[in-house]
Amino acid sequence: MNQVSGRIQAWIWPGFGPGAETFVFADLAGVRDPDMRPFIESFSPTASSDPQAAGTQIGCALGGRTLARLGIDTAFGLAVSTPPVVAMHKRLGITGDPDPAQWKVGGPDMPADMVVVVHGQPGHEADAVATATEITDRLNRSGGRTITHTASSLPGTIEHFGFRDGLSQPNAVLDGDGQPITDLGPDSQPFVHGGEIFFGLAGLDRPDSAPVYPGALEAPVAAGSTMTVVRLLRQDVALFRSWCDHESARVGVNSEWLAAAVVGRWPSGDLFTGQGTDPGSPPDNTFDFTTAETRRCPVGAHIRKVNPRRGGTDDNPARRRILRSGIPWGRPLPLHGPDPDHGDRGLVFVCSQTSIRDQFEFLTNRWVRASGVPNPGAGPDILIGPDPDRKSNVRLPDGRDVPIVAPEPFVTCEGGGYFWTPAVDSGRLHLPPAS
Ligand code: HEM
Repeated sequence: MNQVSGRIQAWIWPGFGPGAETFVFADLAGVRDPDMRPFIESFSPTASSDPQAAGTQIGCALGGRTLARLGIDTAFGLAVSTPPVVAMHKRLGITGDPDPAQWKVGGPDMPADMVVVVHGQPGHEADAVATATEITDRLNRSGGRTITHTASSLPGTIEHFGFRDGLSQPNAVLDGDGQPITDLGPDSQPFVHGGEIFFGLAGLDRPDSAPVYPGALEAPVAAGSTMTVVRLLRQDVALFRSWCDHESARVGVNSEWLAAAVVGRWPSGDLFTGQGTDPGSPPDNTFDFTTAETRRCPVGAHIRKVNPRRGGTDDNPARRRILRSGIPWGRPLPLHGPDPDHGDRGLVFVCSQTSIRDQFEFLTNRWVRASGVPNPGAGPDILIGPDPDRKSNVRLPDGRDVPIVAPEPFVTCEGGGYFWTPAVDSGRLHLPPAS
């Protein structure tokens, strides 16, 4: 069995951590075919085993069109024409995203053939900006077109709606020798096979369907690579706050209570079970929605829609897990007064898995956007759902069930893409030969 530890790009696992990140998206149509491979190979992403105190770190992933031009799209069954690596802007029917002609990047006018992520740890932000500028210049000189997007963690690891983020990840993703790659410590969630997140490792043995990339699971060159979704998600914080204010007044609770009911956790990260106020204790991730207490978290809450744990009706929630990070962009919306940034804030959502179709797209299309799943009685996920028809319900502290309605999306996709994130070998991108 392949070993993937030390071959995973650090932005995927363990993540870059606090600091600032510049995402350089490139359209490589203008780069000559013979130049493509050496050009791409010249990027040296930081591997997961590299010291975290390195100051500036780099990540890199390739879009479907780039894989086709390198002749490696079919090398591991990564066929560009199949849903997992087709351009994200062609999957609107699945994601419910708005018109990609309006996207900042990843739409038909500005394809995302490659994304390079440059991270500066606290104190090294200026070095990272200089590195990102160098990379952008190189890409532009070689015939590429670039768009950059800068994001940075907010104090307390919160996202713009005010909730602690980055708490729950797949538990115990295992390397080929059975040792954990992730080191979050045991919790009560189902075990996630390494092959659900990284190529080169065994996945969950599903009798109902063949592995998505049979070749990929075997090929040592792919070990540690993964499929990555990058999405620029604008958050309408003013709308979320005003909706929480008036909807909470309508149903007779306070605004923070309703916001927590929609997320499924209190702002501090504690599980929301409908009673009291935010306890502010260190967040716990050991619940699995099988006890009477934890089942009081609303079935329509974001965290129960995207990960039902053992409490849902899905026979195999472990197959739906994603490795996730969210890096906020823009300044926080002041509590009072005008918005100096005119709503320009959100989250760069990054998630990795071996099948975008069976993991990210399944979550989005079959659970987030739908009602009655993965728990009976759940409405759509009104925190992140893109659809206008967003009715959910909550159980008030006095035991009454009341409907809640959010007529406008709080989160809107403004671009991004689907990518293959190669593994790193001795500091270089590990690309297979052309097939
Ligand atoms: C702006 C958009 C989003 C915001 C503000 C947001 C916010 C949050 C927060 C506050 C948590 C709880 C903290 C944690 O467990 O880390 C969370 C968890 C999670 N989110 Fe989101 N999220 C967003 C988009 C998404 C999207 C697009 C997906 C996937 C389709 C997603 C999937 C998840 C998953 C899988 C969890 C972990 C659930 C668990 O295991 O308990 N989120 N999110």
